[in-house]
Amino acid sequence: MDVATPVRTDALVDTFGRVGRDLRVSLTDHCNLRCTYCMPAEGLDWMAKPQMLTDDELLRVVGVFVSLGITQVRLTGGEPLLRRGLPDIVAGIAALDPSPRIAMTSNGVGLARTAQALADAGLTRVNISLDTTDRLTFKALTRRDRLDDVVAGLAAAAHAGLTPVKVNAVAMRGINDAQAPDLLAWCLERGYELRFIEQMPLDAQHGWHRESMVTADEIRERLGERFTLTPVPGRGSAPAERFLVDGGPATVGIIASVTAPFCGACDRVRLTADGMVRNCLFARGELDLRGPLRDGADDAELVRLIRGEMWRKRRGHGIGDPDFTQPARPMSSIGG
Ligand code: 5AD
Ligand code: SF4
Repeated sequence: MDVATPVRTDALVDTFGRVGRDLRVSLTDHCNLRCTYCMPAEGLDWMAKPQMLTDDELLRVVGVFVSLGITQVRLTGGEPLLRRGLPDIVAGIAALDPSPRIAMTSNGVGLARTAQALADAGLTRVNISLDTTDRLTFKALTRRDRLDDVVAGLAAAAHAGLTPVKVNAVAMRGINDAQAPDLLAWCLERGYELRFIEQMPLDAQHGWHRESMVTADEIRERLGERFTLTPVPGRGSAPAERFLVDGGPATVGIIASVTAPFCGACDRVRLTADGMVRNCLFARGELDLRGPLRDGADDAELVRLIRGEMWRKRRGHGIGDPDFTQPARPMSSIGG
């Protein structure tokens, strides 16, 4: 939580006093990559169009969230660039009053064509997923030969001023973990801010095992073999622990979602492409907003429903607890 921001009396609070400020909106569950830690080679049963919120429905819901104190909207997927009319959605969100900051998490494929239009529409920042800069490893990990598209997308994002350009990487044991220092060197050369994320149990195949997960400590050790890392103090609600690389000013982040959860400072809430509110990536339930929306609910009713869902937010994700159960929805359908 940002201590400098006063808490509004009508803010979106939960029973632990956390305040929702960051809304993650999944625009589609479709994806043009098939990352092995996310989905099977054949893809998934994608959502049917009538199930998905229309642009107007989506903008209305985001508007209600903004009226509740949401100050940042992050567009995610699946792959958000696959949503038709994305620049118009961005412009619609930017036109809300007060206008939230708008960021996007994308795999970068196709961004080379659209980065400028998105920036012009009001997008301010991007996080691009890139786990390796080695072509063969990229192809093995994503099951698609699209490394060049991602590299071009990153360059276009920087050129369009969507900065700082952040790169998200998941380290997979025996696949790309040994390349972590190479990826960092590559990002440093181009001025991109790299962050490693511990792999979470959110894959559609339910193939996650804690023992095989590459931990934040291991990543730090690997990077430490080539670089000097100095912790940056003052992390706030940011999930990434950041380190100055070789004295700075460049930094690298490590997000220990599993081994050092940051649930206590969580300021997030999520909206899926089919109009469900999830108070946590790992929430066991979700709130259907699409039904009430299509049944003519007014804004006051939507506010009441959303507040109720935030009130049900649990203290933490509980990965590792004996009763932990992986959510039925995979990451690609919740939004990163
Ligand atoms: N654990 C951690 N990160 C994941 N991502 C996708 N699946 C997982 C997972 N199971 C990453 C993507 C992207 C962001 C949305 O989350 O690589 O960067
Ligand atoms: Fe697509 Fe992201 Fe899943 Fe990879 S991790 S398959 S880019 S949704």
